[in-house]
Amino acid sequence: MTQDELKTMVGQAALAYVVPGELVGVGTGSTVNKFIDALGGMRAQIKGAVSSSVASTERLRAAGIAVFDCNEVGSLPVYIDGADEIDAQGCMIKGGGAALTREKIVAAQALQFVCIADQSKQVDVLGRFPLPVEVVPMAAQRLVRDFAQIGGQARLRMNGDQPLVTDNGQWLLDVSGLHIHDPKATEDRLSQWPGVLTVGIFAHQGAHVALLGTSQGVQKLTFDRA
Ligand code: A5P
Repeated sequence: MTQDELKTMVGQAALAYVVPGELVGVGTGSTVNKFIDALGGMRAQIKGAVSSSVASTERLRAAGIAVFDCNEVGSLPVYIDGADEIDAQGCMIKGGGAALTREKIVAAQALQFVCIADQSKQVDVLGRFPLPVEVVPMAAQRLVRDFAQIGGQARLRMNGDQPLVTDNGQWLLDVSGLHIHDPKATEDRLSQWPGVLTVGIFAHQGAHVALLGTSQGVQKLTFDRA
């Protein structure tokens, strides 16, 4: 199976977690796009969606699904999103698609996080994928130096010859060279650095369930998040 077919498979499998008559939280990325395409087939059965990016909002609306603002709704039964890496505890690195801040916000509003990904995203230790960190622009170069102090090589994410600007009007650093053995502690520590808006470690907002696409079918993992 191609990676695209694996993504389609887990995108469809995630429909089982959508609660009829309710809202669903929707992440961002190529795997979530498959989920949105599948969700279009059950649009009449749901109240609508809360989206984590401009790109997902546009795709949801094109599929005929109503999109609500976080502030208009209460808690969501489920949030469905991809990941750049996921470890054996359901902690993740996210933000490869630049949507980490809104993803964390919507995930925090949901009772359950269902991660959809192909099996290649499974790792023993987070950090092989460069860690995305959304930052306030005026802090970027100081944060590059601060990451160097802890062994990280931070690069400003570019869009052509200009810094990429997120949906929130901020910039992104991608930090390689980190070996994140204690995701919660690292998320806590980096989140305190002045100028950091969001760290792409999802340990506090980790996955409850992962649906991983394999050539043998969908592998389901469940995590104790207590
Ligand atoms: C978006 O900002 C990310 O957190 C995505 O969830 C992550 O990059 C996975 O994307 P793909 O499904 O495209 O691999």
